Parts: sequence; C-alpha cells; structure tokens
Amino acid sequence: MTIKDIAERIYLRLPMWFTLLVEVLQYWCRLCKYNASFRTDNDLHKMQYTLLRENHVIEKGMSMKNPRKGFGQAKVTNLINRLQKYNKRYGKEDSRFLLYPLSTIKEYIRYQENDGVDVSRIKEAFDSLCEQSGYNADDLTVSSGISLYHSADIIKDAKGDFRSLLYSRHSVRYFKDELPSKEVIDEALTLASRTPSACNRQAWHTHVYFGKDAHDLLDMQGGCNGFAHDINCCIVVTADMKGFLNHEPFQCYIDGGLYAQNLMNSLHYLGLGTIPLSCGFLTYKLLRIQKRFGIPENEAMVAILGTGYMYDEMNIAQSTRKPFTITNTYH
Ligand SMILES: Cc1cc2nc3c(=O)[nH]c(=O)nc-3n(C[C@H](O)[C@H](O)[C@H](O)COP(=O)(O)O)c2cc1C
Repeated sequence: MTIKDIAERIYLRLPMWFTLLVEVLQYWCRLCKYNASFRTDNDLHKMQYTLLRENHVIEKGMSMKNPRKGFGQAKVTNLINRLQKYNKRYGKEDSRFLLYPLSTIKEYIRYQENDGVDVSRIKEAFDSLCEQSGYNADDLTVSSGISLYHSADIIKDAKGDFRSLLYSRHSVRYFKDELPSKEVIDEALTLASRTPSACNRQAWHTHVYFGKDAHDLLDMQGGCNGFAHDINCCIVVTADMKGFLNHEPFQCYIDGGLYAQNLMNSLHYLGLGTIPLSCGFLTYKLLRIQKRFGIPENEAMVAILGTGYMYDEMNIAQSTRKPFTITNTYH
C-alpha cells in the first residue's frame, strides 16, 4: 500500500471518526449532567430513582429462596435515613412518592418479626419517619414486599390473552434443578425472532449456558448476590455492533432490548420462569465477561435472561409500577 492509499483511507474515514467523537463527547456531557451518581440528592428525580432502587433491593431480598436470617438491616436503616432527607427536601413537592418505600419497610418489619428477628431500632426509626411525613402506618397500603405465587396459576395465565400474559410475568429468583430442554429454548427463540428490528437487520444473538457455567456467569455479573446459584440456565442476549452505521451507534441496544423482552415473554408463554439480569456495566467488565464466556467482542451485551422451571410455590417481589400518568406526556 502506498502513502497515497493510506492518506486516502484516512481522508475517507475522517468524517466518520469525527461524527463518532462528537457523539461520544455529547453523550459524555449529558452523562455528567444527568447521571444519577452526580449531585444525586440535589435533584428530585435522581433522588427518587435511587430510592426506588434501594427500595427494590429490600423487596428482592425477601423474594429469595433462603434469605439470610435478619438480612438487610443496614440497608433498611440507610433507606430510612435517605427517606428522611427526601422528606425534608422534597416532601412538600411530592410526598406521595414516600408511600411505596414506606410500605416496603412496613412489610420488611413484619417479615423480620415473623422470623423472630429483633428489628425494634428500625421500627422506631420507621415510626418517626411516618410521623415526620404525616403518614399513619395503617395508610401504607401500596402493594409491596413479596407475595406467594403458584406456578400452576402463572403457567395457566401465561397461555391466556395478551393482558394475562403480561400480568402473570414476574421476575423469579429461584428455579428447580431440572434444566429447560433445548427444544423449549429453541421454540422460545423461534417466537422471539418475530421481534421487529431497524431495517429488519436482526442483529441479535443469543448464547445459552447451563449449570456451573450459568452460575459462574452470574457470579461475574454480580447482580444476583444470594441467588446466583439458584438459576441454572442463562441466555445472554447480545446485538452485533457490525449491524449498525455511524449515525446509529446506540441502535444495537434498542433492537437487542426489544428482542430480549420478546424472548422473555416467549419463555414465559412456554411455561418457564424468567428473570432479566443487567448488562448495564462499564465496558471493561463486559469485555471480561465476554472473553471468559466466548462472546465475540463485536457483540454488545444487552441482557442476561435467567430461566428455568418454577417451583409449585414461590415468593415473588411485588415491584409495584408507577401509574402511567406519571410517565406519559400527551403533546
Ligand atoms: C435490564 C434489567 C436488568 C435487571 N437486572 C437485575 C439484576 O441484576 N438482579 C436482579 O435481581 N433483578 C434484575 N432485574 C429484574 C428487575 O428487578 C425486575 O424486572 C423489576 O423489579 C420488575 O419486576 P418484575 O420483573 O417482576 O415485573 C433487571 C430487570 C431489567 C429489565
């Protein structure tokens, strides 16, 4: 290759490099402004989102197969402290937000007391928070904590109409040892291939792991502390970055996300329990996972779906939803 060829190549690629560099810088600026790690409690919404996250950690703890006796006391104490701060800062602006986390803490106290754990200090702090925020513990009726579900009902409802499919899917955090057959996974993958994608590129890929491989993968993922080894089958959903041009650098996550949701609903429809697990990590961690588990570097990890056969009875976190009136804007 002559120097002229090299210069021509660079010249042709410069605009694309520049476009992507500008994109990265713009994204960096937005992250510095809007990422919830920055000035968290100075922003009502950042504070609410992070409190919801902490609230979910408590619910999730209760939904495991064998929670550690007395688990989560430090986390609940921290949550109460932050809720007090929220109430002081934003109580006048949006006090109803407190109802869900307060209901979760009420359920947590009930759960621990039933288990014979002394949580009197937490109860005191909780009572004081209720008093400060003007709520009576009896007003806290938001569906929260855990509920007991029967797999027979879930499997029946999953085969009902679309509404009952959606309402019967819940994240399940422990499964029977029996592994899902390749036939049932193949059928789910066939159903999920009906997912629409930008220009029908179908850049999604899946990688399926069973048994110890699944456990090791989840240990590395790190979001399943306490239940990683109760999930015996994992499907990693990725999207091939080679499928997208320089004006659509994030499209792989959009197409991959749509596919992951459809795959999860397909598994649910076929009678398996599922849980979506995060791949929202920094690149160095994702690439380490990809190298260890044979996922090519050109694939972007989108989500891990834990799946398996459900026990007859299971505790499942309520994960109450916001009303759509909070999340929708008609223009
Ligand atoms: C992208 C994504 C990542 C998630 N990551 C985790 C995770 O790492 N650990 C976990 O226990 N649950 C995880 N979940 C499950 C959520 O906690 C759960 O979907 C949410 O609380 C709603 O509950 P539901 O799935 O029962 O409707 C994740 C869900 C999504 C959609």
